Amino acid sequence: MSRVHAVRVHKLGGPEELRYEEIEVGEPGPGEARVRHTAIGLNFTDVHFRTGRYPLPRLPHVIGMEAAGSVEAVGPGVTEVKAGDRVAYASDAPSAYAEVTVMPITRLVKLPDFIDDETAAATILKGLTAQYLIRSTYRIKAPETILIQAAAGGVGLIMCQWARHLGVRVIGTVSTEEKAALAKANGCDIPVIYTKEDVVARVKDLTRGEGLPVVYDGVGGSTYEMSLQCVKRRGLAVFYGSAGGVIPPFDLWRLNRMGSLYVTYAGLADYLHTRDEMIERADELFAMMKDGVVHVPINQRYRLKDVAQAHRDLESRRTSGASIIIP
Ligand SMILES: NC(=O)c1ccc[n+]([C@@H]2O[C@H](COP(=O)([O-])OP(=O)(O)OC[C@H]3O[C@@H](n4cnc5c(N)ncnc54)[C@H](OP(=O)(O)O)[C@@H]3O)[C@@H](O)[C@H]2O)c1
Repeated sequence: MSRVHAVRVHKLGGPEELRYEEIEVGEPGPGEARVRHTAIGLNFTDVHFRTGRYPLPRLPHVIGMEAAGSVEAVGPGVTEVKAGDRVAYASDAPSAYAEVTVMPITRLVKLPDFIDDETAAATILKGLTAQYLIRSTYRIKAPETILIQAAAGGVGLIMCQWARHLGVRVIGTVSTEEKAALAKANGCDIPVIYTKEDVVARVKDLTRGEGLPVVYDGVGGSTYEMSLQCVKRRGLAVFYGSAGGVIPPFDLWRLNRMGSLYVTYAGLADYLHTRDEMIERADELFAMMKDGVVHVPINQRYRLKDVAQAHRDLESRRTSGASIIIP
């Protein structure tokens, strides 16, 4: 057992419910490793756990899904990693907002030398999400045009970079001129400022009225209708998040009327089902990082004790690219 600093949610609610305090962290059991964090990733998912949109198993509870650091100890029988290894993880259960955590090795990957800890913490969860969305959920390919909602966000920017590398034309929605410039610099061919422009009309205009083979939407409640209207006949709408609210119950018959559309609501856990799958996806992501295709701009940095401000900034759309938290 060791006492470490962490941020826990005691009561579901606003950023003010995030409490910086000392907690006990135990020894790793079979299939686990204890990791000392050097950098922690900030994700919109963390907001969902804080507010209760995603359930926490009990309260108080540490939140956070993504971090990098080094292995301090491994549980009985663990051979995949050893003390001293530099590692990163995209977790299945929240526990990253802490100096130290115990993590199942199914979610741990060793870091190659060319990826520093801050970059790893900013990239591993968002990068694996982008990887499965554009390589597995739907395999994007040139010369397709696709739509990415919140193109200047953490996951959005990586998808733009990767799509550019594959020769895919990206239309991306953003809220401001600054975010449009950032998205464009990262591979979004046509940023559309949704606060000023009609996204559906623009997509129809750019595709001779046809629509797109695939639309990626991590915003949800405020955008799902627009996303569906941008999909072409027999195309796919991929929903994967609810930064803009929950998607209400939906009459499936409408998919028929809109052109026999396909719809999925994808989740990382189903695409990192085994350690082998995690390693395979991480290897592809790391190769893209080595080639300079994926490089995540860390545009915001916070101390762990100031994480409430990080949540305020993320929820009020003041962030772009990735944010990291230093323990
Ligand atoms: N299913 C999965 O496997 C998976 C994995 C990782 C993340 N996610 C989800 O993917 C989404 C993106 O995650 P992220 O961490 O990369 O976040 P992010 O995109 O960096 O931040 C969310 C962005 O959504 C846009 N947005 C639109 N309406 C919003 C609203 N009402 N409130 C706040 N933001 C709004 C904002 O961009 P603009 O200012 O341009 O509108 C904002 O910057 C989240 O919903 C997250 O939960 C899902």
